[in-house]
Amino acid sequence: MIPIKNEREISMMRRACKITAAARALAGDMVRPGVTTKEIDKAVHDFIVSQGATPSFLNYSGYPASACISVNQTVIHGIPDNRVLQEGDIVSIDVGAYWGGFHGDCAATFACGEISPEAKKLIDVTKQSFFEGIKFARQGCRVSDIGSAVQAYVESNGFSVVRDFIGHGVGANLHESPEVPNYGRPGRGPRLIKGMTLAIEPMVNAGSHGVRVLSDGWTTVTADGSLSAHYENTVLITDGEPEILTVTEGL
Ligand code: MF3
Ligand code: CO
Repeated sequence: MIPIKNEREISMMRRACKITAAARALAGDMVRPGVTTKEIDKAVHDFIVSQGATPSFLNYSGYPASACISVNQTVIHGIPDNRVLQEGDIVSIDVGAYWGGFHGDCAATFACGEISPEAKKLIDVTKQSFFEGIKFARQGCRVSDIGSAVQAYVESNGFSVVRDFIGHGVGANLHESPEVPNYGRPGRGPRLIKGMTLAIEPMVNAGSHGVRVLSDGWTTVTADGSLSAHYENTVLITDGEPEILTVTEGL
C-alpha cells in the first residue's frame, strides 16, 4: 500500500524537506580542496539538530553518519571520514532529516574546484535526468514512466543508469512504497495519485551500470572504476505540476 499524505501531513513534510534541502546546500557550499568529508558531515549533523530535527540516516540500519558523501567512483553511501577533498573531485552528498514525524531526502553532486569537462557533463546530465523524470511525476502516470524517461535521457548522453539501487516512497518512513527505479519500460507499476511523496534519485555512471559494495557493507562504487553522480529530491504528486519539496525557500 502506498501512503497518501493529507494536507496536514504534507505541511509537516514541507518543513522536514526544507531543512533537508538547506542541509544539502550548506554541505555543497563546504566542498573545496582541503576540507574533509567528516567536517562536512559534522556541519550537516549540527545544522539538522539546530533546526529541531533528527538526521534520518544516522543509525539507520547501523549507518554511522548523518550524510552520505561519495567521491568520484563512489556511487552512494560513502561514509564520511578523514579523506581530504582534492581539486577535480566530484562529491555526491546525500542527506535526510526527520521533523514532525516525516522524513525529507535529497542529494546532489558538487564539483571540488575545477573539474574535467567529462565530469561536468556527468553532473549536468544526472541533474537534468531528474527533471526529465519528473515530467511524468503526475497523477495518472505510472511509476515506471519516470524511470523510463530518466534512462532514455541518460543513455542518449552516453552514460548509464545504476540498476542495483533505486528511488522510493518517503514519508513517515525513510523508505516506503513504492519502489522508483531509474530505468525500465514505461506504463508499468502503480498509478500515481495526488498526495504520494517520492524520493526520485537517479544515480548515473560515466561507464557501465554495474556497482559493487565494499567490505564496510555501505560504500558502493562503480564496478569499472568510472565516475558516478547522484541527484535526488523529495517530490509531491499533486493534481497538477509535481511539487519539489526539498527546496530551501521559506525555511
Ligand atoms: N538517500 C539514500 C536512500 O534513500 C540514503 C540512505 S543512506 C542510509 O536510500 F544510511 F540511510 F541508508
Ligand atoms: Co533516497
